[in-house]
Amino acid sequence: MPTFETHTDASQHYQSGFANDFATEALPGALPVGRNSPQRAAYGLYAEQLSGTAFTAPRAHNRRSWLYRIRPGAVHKPFTRVPADKLRAKLVANFAEVPATPPNQLRWDPLPMPAAPTDFIDGWVTMAGNGAAESMSGCAIHLYAANRSMQDRFFYNSDGELLIVPQQGRLAIWTELGKVDVEPYEIAVIPRGVRFSVTLPDGEARGYICENFGALLQLPDLGPIGSNGLANPRDFLTPQAAYEDREGGFELVTKMNGVLWRADIGHSPLDVVAWHGNYAPYKYDLRHFNTIGSISYDHPDPSIFLVLQSPSDTPGVDTIDFVIFPPRWLAAEDTFRPPWFHRNVASEFMGLVHGVYDAKAEGFVPGGASLHNCMSGHGPDAETFEKASNSDTTKPAKVDATMAFMFETRTLIKPTQFALETAQLQANYYECWQGLTKHFNPEQR
Ligand SMILES: [Fe+2]
Repeated sequence: MPTFETHTDASQHYQSGFANDFATEALPGALPVGRNSPQRAAYGLYAEQLSGTAFTAPRAHNRRSWLYRIRPGAVHKPFTRVPADKLRAKLVANFAEVPATPPNQLRWDPLPMPAAPTDFIDGWVTMAGNGAAESMSGCAIHLYAANRSMQDRFFYNSDGELLIVPQQGRLAIWTELGKVDVEPYEIAVIPRGVRFSVTLPDGEARGYICENFGALLQLPDLGPIGSNGLANPRDFLTPQAAYEDREGGFELVTKMNGVLWRADIGHSPLDVVAWHGNYAPYKYDLRHFNTIGSISYDHPDPSIFLVLQSPSDTPGVDTIDFVIFPPRWLAAEDTFRPPWFHRNVASEFMGLVHGVYDAKAEGFVPGGASLHNCMSGHGPDAETFEKASNSDTTKPAKVDATMAFMFETRTLIKPTQFALETAQLQANYYECWQGLTKHFNPEQR
């Protein structure tokens, strides 16, 4: 059973399933029957295809949707770069910005809420990343902190799909393809190119974004786990069509190769009356994750906590793994139950939505972040080690009221200059392992 109460009435605004071939219309008969591009679409709508994969991608990976809209996406004035004095977001496109990635363990306090009015797009700060948007490989990791709804302003990302992990405050994301409402403990994925606007029902909002330049996120195979488990496809929710027919002096913003551009647009681009296809935004409630673990001894590799993956061209090796550490029972006997000490060929960027992470009792707080890059040693702090080494493992214990997560990548996660210079960087993080003293005694087993 989910540990936390959930709030979404899935039947109202959403369609269930992961990357299904969805069909939805906000007006009866707006979707053409048996064809995609009729000579005249119903209600005087324009037909437009939005492709998320190459036309010739294998059918199992091919993603596209057909949109029936009031005006085509092409109708807007030319883009110009957002001028420096209007640029609020701290975006980084080139992760060679800091030429030498430090091998140190890194950890940050949460970003403070902005003092000035700041919307979802203005509130982005790039913390780290790898690869490049222009070569369509790798990812960028951003934090956001915002205190104002986007007003007459719409955004789409040319560089990749956005995996949004709210930590504080709800996001009401109105996309071309419908409305996606998310709160902490939920995630939203907005595909590359989909236009949207974000309002903040709680006034303030903060969280994490993993921007995926590579293959679209997908559900992992389950292997011996069987046909159910981890994130189940039916719990992924894609919105029903919802449109507005609104004219005015609006702004369309996009990020292309890490640079923000703006264009005047005389109407709301959220004007899709009907659509069908399998390229669409979705949300998922992390409280629905079916957590698998050991019921004998030891605990499995954290790959058991995998929610979504962006596969690379090497079988079994992902460009991005999105992994969560949800509430769960620990039942392994005669076992050191917290995450073990490890050094990993992959690189790990962690965040915390709520509660306490079971390897770190202190210092890693909700809204904060840590980065353990390739082969950087890490694991429980001294206090956690002592406690777990002496706890009673004949009885199960509950890790409760917590939600940590990790963006894990196959290549080095390079912190930005901002990440290495911000006051939020904890200079004393290394100290949490300094209390791990020598217990070795060759005279005593
Ligand atoms: Fe780790």
